[in-house]
Amino acid sequence: MKMLEISHVSKSFGSRSVLKDLSFSVPAHSVFGFIGENGAGKTTTMKLILGLLKMDRGEIFVNGEKVVYGENRTNRYIGYLPDVPEFYGFMTPLEYLMLCGGVSGMDRMQARTEAIRLLALVGLEKERRRIHGFSRGMKQRLGIAQALMNRPQLLICDEPTSALDPSGRKEILDLLSSVRNDTTVLFSTHILSDVERICDEVALLHRGRIVFGGSLEEWKAEDRASGFVIEFVRAQDVQPFGQIVPGGRRTDATTLLYEGRSRRDMQKAMQLFVQQGIPVRKIEMLEPSLETLFMELTGGEERI
Ligand SMILES: Nc1ncnc2c1ncn2[C@@H]1O[C@H](COP(=O)(O)OP(=O)(O)OP(=O)(O)O)[C@@H](O)[C@H]1O
Ligand SMILES: [Mg+2]
Repeated sequence: MKMLEISHVSKSFGSRSVLKDLSFSVPAHSVFGFIGENGAGKTTTMKLILGLLKMDRGEIFVNGEKVVYGENRTNRYIGYLPDVPEFYGFMTPLEYLMLCGGVSGMDRMQARTEAIRLLALVGLEKERRRIHGFSRGMKQRLGIAQALMNRPQLLICDEPTSALDPSGRKEILDLLSSVRNDTTVLFSTHILSDVERICDEVALLHRGRIVFGGSLEEWKAEDRASGFVIEFVRAQDVQPFGQIVPGGRRTDATTLLYEGRSRRDMQKAMQLFVQQGIPVRKIEMLEPSLETLFMELTGGEERI
């Protein structure tokens, strides 16, 4: 089941084309990473999903229902954490969440029960301070609690980790990962290690187009292997081997590194060891990092 379907969506601001024929879908109960550099169009896409902006072309479906600009019917399925969340700083987190519950039509008891449950979920249940004394990480956690108040089927978080330090980021990622049984998570980021840590699927947005969409495994598919490394037992074997299989770089006395080579090249090298009876201590495929793949897919002209 698809929780979100974006189909051939285009959006311009004046003469500036920001999203160009965007299509991707988010399976239910997945954690989906929406990756893109600054200005790629991530926030714009999220606002289109929420019906806050009007698209020029295309369609968006949330839980099978079509999103209509200016209407908020499909938003009953959605919880949203904006990139810069605003809170009433003079309130305590409990007061704030109860206010949000009230606004979305819950009665007081219901709002209180739900607020207490969510404050425990995000680790703020013992927090008596007012929100203006909160750290950024605490504010993001409160923001996620607020976005979960209406028990959404789709939780959308716009760069929830980008302002946080590594431990704050880990807390948020663990939290997003922990709610996947109850909801589907779509979050945007430019931090590739965050994606690697918790996402099932990703879409990579580059200058308003999806340049990759699919699972992380697909992204790291075999033919994208970024090389292999061979550790010989005897140093005297390195040079003759390097002559038979050119392109390797000697990184120490017994090690040859073949960058950018495929798995098939590695298998050919292995056959050669067997044929020539060369003893080898280790041969290892190098996994491509998301950074290398990102550079490959975007042509490397954007910094991430
Ligand atoms: N209301 C607007 N009017 C005109 N241009 C806009 C508007 N909103 C966004 N843009 C432009 O659209 C492009 C995409 O912006 P968007 O905010 O969607 O990118 P983003 O991927 O969220 O970037 P960031 O990582 O910086 O948050 C940018 O070039 C931006 O200047
Ligand atoms: Mg943005």
